[in-house]
Amino acid sequence: MNSFNDAIAQAVAATGAFELEQAKKLITVPTDTEHGNFTLPCFVLARSLHKAPKVIAEELAPKIELPNGICKVEAVAGYLNFFIDRKFLAKSILEAVFSQGLEYGHAESNGKVVCMDYSSPNIGKELAFHHLRSTMIGNSLSRIYKAAGYKVVRINHLGDWGTAFGKLIVMYLREKRPTDQATLDSLTVKELNILYASFSKAAEAEPGLEDEARATFSKLEKGDDFYHQLWLAFRAATLKELMRIYKMMGVDFDYYTGESFYEDKMPAVIQDLEAKGLLERSEERDVVKLDEYKLNPCLIRKSDGSTLYATRDLAAAIYRKKEYNFDKSLYVVDLGQALHFKQVKLVLKKMGYNWHDTLVHIPFGVILNLIDGKWEKGKTRTGKAKLLRDVIEAAQQKILDFINQKNPELENKELIAQQIGISALTFNDLKN
Ligand code: ARG
Repeated sequence: MNSFNDAIAQAVAATGAFELEQAKKLITVPTDTEHGNFTLPCFVLARSLHKAPKVIAEELAPKIELPNGICKVEAVAGYLNFFIDRKFLAKSILEAVFSQGLEYGHAESNGKVVCMDYSSPNIGKELAFHHLRSTMIGNSLSRIYKAAGYKVVRINHLGDWGTAFGKLIVMYLREKRPTDQATLDSLTVKELNILYASFSKAAEAEPGLEDEARATFSKLEKGDDFYHQLWLAFRAATLKELMRIYKMMGVDFDYYTGESFYEDKMPAVIQDLEAKGLLERSEERDVVKLDEYKLNPCLIRKSDGSTLYATRDLAAAIYRKKEYNFDKSLYVVDLGQALHFKQVKLVLKKMGYNWHDTLVHIPFGVILNLIDGKWEKGKTRTGKAKLLRDVIEAAQQKILDFINQKNPELENKELIAQQIGISALTFNDLKN
């Protein structure tokens, strides 16, 4: 559009009535296309020419040699209205689309970096339907930022660390599952999902089990080799299935640096908090108080020394700033975690990081599942959450049924149903 603006300014300046730079500045885009695609007011010339703007515009219009792509100029009430030749425009846009392909419409690099943390599911479980939102919003935002000229660092902050792994290990061993490498290598996320659900069930009857899981995670965190081997196998099994689904959805990441990645980066953060006098003891835990913001304290370390979700997000934010020097760091996570991100930002602020405000939580509503007649937040651990792969398959089946009804002779109909099913789901969300 800038090139049109310049070309019109040049044509007008060639009549001698306007200075080139003056014309460039005066040309605007009218809100109503009835008044053309560009308009130039002639009011500024009224005083020097001793004429009414209406007359000036009318006298000027026939003198203007229309530039390429402009098909008409009209003088209306002191304005010169220019109209774009639509055929010319369509042709030039199509030519640009053909030559630039997917890059068409992308801005040039603005030198800015944005970190995008999205999807980030918890490992050891299958992707549930409620993971769709973060995954697709994050993926779309990544593409939009890239098109707008940013360098985008796409991060999957996998929940691959924490007590959940204590639970899986406890249950795996309790069920006396084989721990030879071949069995571990062939584990599937489906089995892990069942294991997780059986832990929750068993823990209801045996409350001591939760403590055992915590102690087991604490041991894993302290570097137990055997537990580490199990953990690696759980992680690999989940990642395999995740990749399959992401591929199907056309979703991509630059890094799969999950929570475990920050394990060796947390001690420095805790030390720094201590050195800055921010760490306090409260109810057996180390916390950073946020009373001045009327918020609950941010939990940093439990009594057994194990770290928490927030500790890992602090380490991650600091690492990302150092590694990618981001201008913005976005977290596409459901509204339920708003407090968590507020706390993390404020702790960074108290630590003296003036970039704390460039962290932005992009919240979205939590997806509820209809479970036994009640709307509930999908909990994979109860085994009742709707699995994303089931929903995708259901959408694809629905499309195939439709094709079979309307156009049963269609070639490649299975493939087409798969493609339409996945795009219907990922672009429009699922209404029912
Ligand atoms: N794993 C978390 C969950 O499923 C989401 C992580 C979001 N990202 C982050 N940096 N905290 O609830």
